[in-house]
Amino acid sequence: MLYIGVDLGTSAVKLLLMEGSGKIERIVSREYPLSFPHPGWSEQSPEDWYTQTMDGLKELLSECDKSQVAGISFGGQMHGLVILDSDDNVIRPAILWNDGRTTEETDYLNDVIGKNKLSEYTANIAFAGFTAPKILWVKNKEPENFAKIAKIMLPKDYIAYKLSGVHCTDVSDASGMLLLDVKNRKWSKEMLEICSVKEEQLPKLFESYETVGDILPSVADELGLPKTVKIVAGAGDNAAAAVGTGTVGNGACNISLGTSGTVFISSDKFGVDENNALHSFDHADGTYHLMGCMLSAASCNKWWEEDIIGTEDFVTEQKAITEDKLGRNHVYFLPYLMGERSPHNDPLARGTFIGMTMDTSRADMTQAVLEGVAFALRDSLEVARSLGIDLQRTKICGGGAKSPLWKKMIANIMNIKVDVIESEQGPGMGGAMLAAVACGEYPSVQAAADAIVRVVETVEPDPALAALYEERYQQFKKIYPTVKSLFPQIQ
Ligand code: XUL
Repeated sequence: MLYIGVDLGTSAVKLLLMEGSGKIERIVSREYPLSFPHPGWSEQSPEDWYTQTMDGLKELLSECDKSQVAGISFGGQMHGLVILDSDDNVIRPAILWNDGRTTEETDYLNDVIGKNKLSEYTANIAFAGFTAPKILWVKNKEPENFAKIAKIMLPKDYIAYKLSGVHCTDVSDASGMLLLDVKNRKWSKEMLEICSVKEEQLPKLFESYETVGDILPSVADELGLPKTVKIVAGAGDNAAAAVGTGTVGNGACNISLGTSGTVFISSDKFGVDENNALHSFDHADGTYHLMGCMLSAASCNKWWEEDIIGTEDFVTEQKAITEDKLGRNHVYFLPYLMGERSPHNDPLARGTFIGMTMDTSRADMTQAVLEGVAFALRDSLEVARSLGIDLQRTKICGGGAKSPLWKKMIANIMNIKVDVIESEQGPGMGGAMLAAVACGEYPSVQAAADAIVRVVETVEPDPALAALYEERYQQFKKIYPTVKSLFPQIQ
């Protein structure tokens, strides 16, 4: 049978067609616009997501035997607020995961309701990009829109709803709303009250590998698919990517170098770090995970290369960063172009270069950008290490993972073995695997991962280079606390 994974990303939707064996038949993508209506705001149109997904699906399916398609599932950008009125029309553009407008509401939740209570109810504290502060923002700033809300959902759930007619979400993605009791995998009554939300306004909760319903007959006809195709709940993009890289079960790690950057640690036990610096979320395999999320990762490199130095040839640019330069760069970059989530929780943080001299070269600056992202990922890894989590190796995925240089930096800056898998397709692959599990092709997510995911190369840290980078990291760590108080003054 055939399974479709829909990776609803921030710049594009990527659609993947997978055989039951895990072999990828075809990948298609469609872009859509992202708008920044004010500095620090980030919005997208859910209708664009749907139109582009349908358009991409038609191309994806154009050469296959459509009668063999059994299920469709998702990995979606997390935390985005999608609100529908009583006729299921979208009320306003979706407010995305990297939107920093909710400082007031986030402070209200963390300081007035209190971090301890939030952590008790949800296992997490408020971060500007989470969904609950956005709901409060709409309530405070757009009361006319708040009054119209009949359904609240997350980005990929809007597509699942359009395909199935079911208002649904899954526990991994719902974890990032700050409305879910993560430990018990159910909505938190206390949080619903704090956010003035009724349970009937929320979608029905599923495990990621559960079927929410059959495809709507009208959609099946439009795509030429059987009416028996199952629409499967899917997962937040990081949990879906973790499934796609086989990061399931206990104590496995995956690093994603996409628009955002994440360190994802799977765990069969529920757990929270003392300061809630890492997110404590449900995993798509029925267990839990801890995750650190930086808001700008590969997007820092894209910004630097395309917008600042004006090149699209990332490979040539990185060739100038020769072996002898690694671990010896005096230029540092704080990668906080959209503020920062983990571990600083500071929407006002900004990108910063420091340490240049008259002989600093373009290559040094490019190197600082790549290293700055790796150092910032290590900040999250250090929180996990402080909890006694001993990680010797990680998988890696996302656009940035295509760069051998960046993988080498990550292995040495974090002092961790980086396992590269055969066919790294992140959330789309995870989505297709979740669909295969729901349709009975595999008995569990773990079984699907065991059968499908293969490691083809391991990038090992080199002790001498890791020692050089250790010194650099100790310097990097001091920069943010030193400049932090300036950021609110220079907005
Ligand atoms: C995770 C997060 C990002 C988005 C990116 O908490 O906000 O990784 O999911 O799509």
